[in-house]
Amino acid sequence: FARPWSFVRGVPNMDVLPPAEGLEIAFAGRSNVGKSSLINALTGQGGLARTSNTPGRTQELNLFRPDDADGLTVVDMPGYGYAKAPKAQVAAWNALVFSYLRGRPNLRRVYVLIDARHGLKANDEDVLSLLDKAAASYQIVLTKADKIGSRALTDLIADTAKRIVRRPAAYPTLIATSSEKYRGIDELRAAIWTLMHE
Ligand code: GTP
Ligand code: MG
Repeated sequence: FARPWSFVRGVPNMDVLPPAEGLEIAFAGRSNVGKSSLINALTGQGGLARTSNTPGRTQELNLFRPDDADGLTVVDMPGYGYAKAPKAQVAAWNALVFSYLRGRPNLRRVYVLIDARHGLKANDEDVLSLLDKAAASYQIVLTKADKIGSRALTDLIADTAKRIVRRPAAYPTLIATSSEKYRGIDELRAAIWTLMHE
């Protein structure tokens, strides 16, 4: 991964989304699942994407690019399913997330993050169904793997793999990560590198 990375811009609505250029990957998932933390671990830049204990931290699509533009844009997305946010706000985030995921022509892969403690929830399944419908290739990344035991993690990986096996746009294997312990980060980097070079 080239460094350093810079913040390109925050996108509050689709009208101001920069033109599709090069290859884009996006990190989606429920609120507080660890999207921004994973982007920081991946780029090796702690303060790049803003993280927080409070769900609902990321409120726009945030685009990042390495400075020696090798044609890759990383998109940090607002989380879905944050029950305590005002309804109108949740609706606006969902609309943004859904229209971006459905209609971005250079979106090469969506990493759908799932908290290893919670597994796939109904609203995750909704997003997977949307991606399947849009034929948008995605891969599941388990986050916060440091929070559960290795046996539970093995079971969760097997169970989740089973649940996505018939989903047409799903990449069949999962990646288990911990941004805290830097686990699975090299594996994810390798997956992205492969995307960029195939
Ligand atoms: P929103 O932007 O609100 O949707 O959240 P997000 O998905 O970007 O999550 P964020 O990266 O802000 O992390 C949420 C919380 O989880 C923070 O307190 C992080 O420190 C914590 N966290 C993220 N990744 C890990 C991890 O791998 N292990 C542990 N233990 N905590 C993590
Ligand atoms: Mg965030």
